[in-house]
Amino acid sequence: MAEPYDLSVIIPTFNEEKNIAAIIDAVNDIFRENSIRGEVLVVDDDSKDQTIPIVREIAGRQENVRLIVRRDDHGLSQSVVEGFRSACSDILQVIDADFSHPPELIPRFYEAIRGGADIAIGSRYMKGGDIEAWPLARRVISLSATAFGRVLFPEVTDPVSGFFAVRRDVVDGAPLAPRGYKILMEVLGRGRWESFVEIPFVFKNREEGKSKLRAGTVIDYLRQCGGIAWFAVAHRTGPVWAEWTKVIRFGLVGISGILVNMGLLYALTEVAGLYYLVSAAIAIELSIVNNFALNDVWTFRSIEFLKFGRRFSRFGSFQAVSMGGLALNMAVLYLLAEVAGVYYLLANLAGISVAFAWNYMVNRHYTWTKAY
Ligand code: GDD
Ligand code: MN
Repeated sequence: MAEPYDLSVIIPTFNEEKNIAAIIDAVNDIFRENSIRGEVLVVDDDSKDQTIPIVREIAGRQENVRLIVRRDDHGLSQSVVEGFRSACSDILQVIDADFSHPPELIPRFYEAIRGGADIAIGSRYMKGGDIEAWPLARRVISLSATAFGRVLFPEVTDPVSGFFAVRRDVVDGAPLAPRGYKILMEVLGRGRWESFVEIPFVFKNREEGKSKLRAGTVIDYLRQCGGIAWFAVAHRTGPVWAEWTKVIRFGLVGISGILVNMGLLYALTEVAGLYYLVSAAIAIELSIVNNFALNDVWTFRSIEFLKFGRRFSRFGSFQAVSMGGLALNMAVLYLLAEVAGVYYLLANLAGISVAFAWNYMVNRHYTWTKAY
């Protein structure tokens, strides 16, 4: 079937009588100015205000505007998924009705997907992105939610954004389990995708109507994160699984390094008769070499753009990061033991954890990247 439209803009609504006509107009203007053959799909959860009659009237005179009214299973995510299902194009864009997401950016999302990205994500938390006029409490809640989401998707700066576009194949037939507010997390966790781009935008607070965020939203969100993590473990595929495999491998390599370190310290001191601090220095360096080699051929081998010839540059980077990790480990050990009076073995455990987080994050984002 030839697709009648090039782009479907899905607008979930609940009681948006003050915004809906204006946002439909704005989206249609964008279509016209950019010569996009686009449709507008309003997915409403049985609004109690005038949203439904207003959209019905517009849909009656504009062929590319459609209204879906849902009567059961109320929810933003469910509505968006319903929009995915009934959209008539291969590129699906989601946008809020309340002008929090600037419709002028729609063509950028559209071009990103046409250019080959599977998902285009509007980000408030990258350079150029921001949030306008949010009270501190909401900022804190949103930032913590985002931090949580980033554990699952470390590469995505705003995995809870409500402003995004996807290629239809990503969600078609994907086992999405939509609940709550964060549909993008669901798409990232269970959709079929390989590449994404992020587009910075400034989130504007709504001027008309009010936000529908409730306390239950937070619980829904935590359950959703749990569900996505579980899905990754159960299916052993997908981006979440790929990332956690790396973390676990990196940890196992770290443990192998400790064994190498201890074994060499013993052998060099007891068998070769070296002064133990000299042995320790050699043992540390060789354990770093051990860790680098294993991480390069095992932990990060799935990163296909790594060039063999750059192995020495990567080693240099790994070495520097490891020294930083060592310094962090010592600093935490010293501070906790001397200043806070924590038992030194416990303090060291804390030091190791901090150093591990540092080593993983910096190496993941710096050593094993395209730069090398
Ligand atoms: N169909 C449907 N059902 N639509 C809903 C529902 C619902 O239960 N609840 C809200 N909406 C619609 C609103 O009408 C609006 O178009 C959009 O979804 C966003 O709702 P708001 O109530 O304005 O959300 P917000 O401003 O608190 O949250 C925004 O920020 C989040 C990130 O922090 C939204 O953009 C979210 O999508 C985003 O995840
Ligand atoms: Mn809003």
